[in-house]
Amino acid sequence: MRVLLAGGGGFIGSHTAIALASAGHSPLVVDDLSNSHKMSLERMAQLAGVDIPVLVADVRNETLVSEFLGRHGSIDAVIHLAGLKAVAESVAQPELYYGVNIGCTLAVLNLMKRHSIKNLVFSSSATVYGSSELVPHSEESRAGIGISNPYGKTKYMIEEILRDACAADDRLRVTALRYFNPVGAHPSGLIGENPKGTPNNLLPIVARVATGVLDEVTVFGADYPTADGTGVRDYIHVQDVARGHVRAAELYGSGFDAINLGTGKPASVLDVIRAYREASGVTIPYRTADRRPGDVPVSFADVAKAERLLGWRAELNLQDACRDDWNWQQTGAQDHLT
Ligand code: NAD
Ligand code: WQD
Repeated sequence: MRVLLAGGGGFIGSHTAIALASAGHSPLVVDDLSNSHKMSLERMAQLAGVDIPVLVADVRNETLVSEFLGRHGSIDAVIHLAGLKAVAESVAQPELYYGVNIGCTLAVLNLMKRHSIKNLVFSSSATVYGSSELVPHSEESRAGIGISNPYGKTKYMIEEILRDACAADDRLRVTALRYFNPVGAHPSGLIGENPKGTPNNLLPIVARVATGVLDEVTVFGADYPTADGTGVRDYIHVQDVARGHVRAAELYGSGFDAINLGTGKPASVLDVIRAYREASGVTIPYRTADRRPGDVPVSFADVAKAERLLGWRAELNLQDACRDDWNWQQTGAQDHLT
């Protein structure tokens, strides 16, 4: 299959492009490099062992993207990962987030129409479960209630847009993959998560403490109703997330489905700090502080639907993710990103 990855130069997209190539598919990438690096694209092609055509452009530039697609023959599926993802930034600049995330999605739908592409995989998020405390989160439970920030709301709104698009075209197939907390890195240590500026997510912060860039981890909340009092999440290795995309792109049929990509295994903030300490051999100082506004106490996935529809389940665990992330920190590959 020939598969276009919109936003394919980023953390999840680059691992997915490699997984597609390993499965015998032909990935193509459009990315404006607003949150990724040219060098990551080169490393992605090197690790994939195949030539990956890349267009550096905003996916909303439909003329340029359309010409690019026209040069590469018929496309079987699109994986749409393009957009902005920083929760706090989305609170400060909601117009930017609604404009980019929804604008990119409408552009992808237009391009698919123009090039008669009927299969779309969309990067959604467990954030669509909002304030629901019914765990594990099942795709059948109600989404969209109590989402605390504009970023999360764009994911829910986009799912609704894609449901409507499927209702209007009975040949369209859309799979919205609701990722839980993607972490880890490629085992080569050549690509991984490298957020521009100060990271917001737990694992990149823990990594920066382990490497001495930050002094300590601030643990947001030690009074949750959980075993050790800290927040609980479902941390899933990016390699597993990437494999999930391959299976989703291979789905045929029509209609809309949302599918969780998680391990189904809950882990607390202190579990993450412990796992990273064991992987790195480095002490990771932390201090507890107040809860972070908008955080739910516990979130983890019901993974039955992914197993049933995709024949997919997570194969790696939190320890594997910490090992691979630490390797990515140690190779020095991040210092040379341009
Ligand atoms: P990322 O920022 O590393 O990747 C997104 C890529 O999209 C980047 O390479 C960026 O340069 C590109 N991009 C942004 N705007 C673009 C535009 N207008 N045109 C073309 N390219 C553009 O993020 P990621 O972690 O790889 O996430 C991929 C997708 O998955 C995002 O949509 C994100 O919201 C979603 N998601 C991520 C997580 C997570 O924790 N990483 C969790 C759930 C959902
Ligand atoms: C995990 C846990 C924090 C930082 C966010 C988005 C979600 C999705 C993934 C894209 C929580 C705690 C964190 C810190 C801490 N992204 N924490 N100290 O909040 O589950 O999800 O990223 O879709 O939309 O909301 O992930 O990594 O920020 O937090 O104690 O410095 O770590 O309170 O319990 P979260 P996270």
